Amino acid sequence: MENKKINILTDKYALLDTLIDWPADKITELDLGCGKGSFSTQLALRYPERFILSADIMIGRCRKLFKRNEREGIENSEVLRVEARHLIGCMMKDNSLDRLHVLCPDPWPKDRHSHNRLICSNIVTHIHRILKPGGVFHFATDDEPYWEIATNLFAKANIFTVDNSRLDDIKDIKTDFEKRWNEQGKEVHHIAYIKAK
Ligand SMILES: C[S@@+](CC[C@H](N)C(=O)[O-])C[C@H]1O[C@@H](n2cnc3c(N)ncnc32)[C@H](O)[C@@H]1O
Repeated sequence: MENKKINILTDKYALLDTLIDWPADKITELDLGCGKGSFSTQLALRYPERFILSADIMIGRCRKLFKRNEREGIENSEVLRVEARHLIGCMMKDNSLDRLHVLCPDPWPKDRHSHNRLICSNIVTHIHRILKPGGVFHFATDDEPYWEIATNLFAKANIFTVDNSRLDDIKDIKTDFEKRWNEQGKEVHHIAYIKAK
């Protein structure tokens, strides 16, 4: 982890690949809203040949993940403290990612807070834009209303196909929140959307 640091990204118009050392030839995955990031760490350890980006708005969570990655000697990862909409709306080029994970995002169940939900119609277009052709958007939630809203948005957009086998390589890796929900007896649904065209 020599010279590594948490990347604190405040300029929403700066391009990410000018701010970090991004190896263009590697399979790249982004864990967006990574939290304390157990999933990111496990992914980076399992696939050292891939490049793993982990992003969260909360600096304390970024620190926990960064320190764990340091302890594990992980070299194939960058931790980004950044606002998710800025990152995928402006800061990433077209066709940048092989796989994007949005796992157990805050569901914001009250109507008056619904504008805070990360998955909304505008974001679907940006997710499509930043994925490479054939790239995967991996969404997971335990929250039934959010599941309905998100899957309906993706169905309506009609620019993705579904292929959950594209998650086979990681189906045993659970996020911190998924472990928590499972301990409470709640099931977490997963789906893999493929950028079809
Ligand atoms: C419920 S937690 C899930 C964390 C992790 N994915 C997991 O499953 O354990 C949601 C995470 O998204 C982050 N988050 C919420 N809104 C965000 C935003 N606008 N930009 C970046 N991260 C955000 C929160 O800080 C929090 O760590």
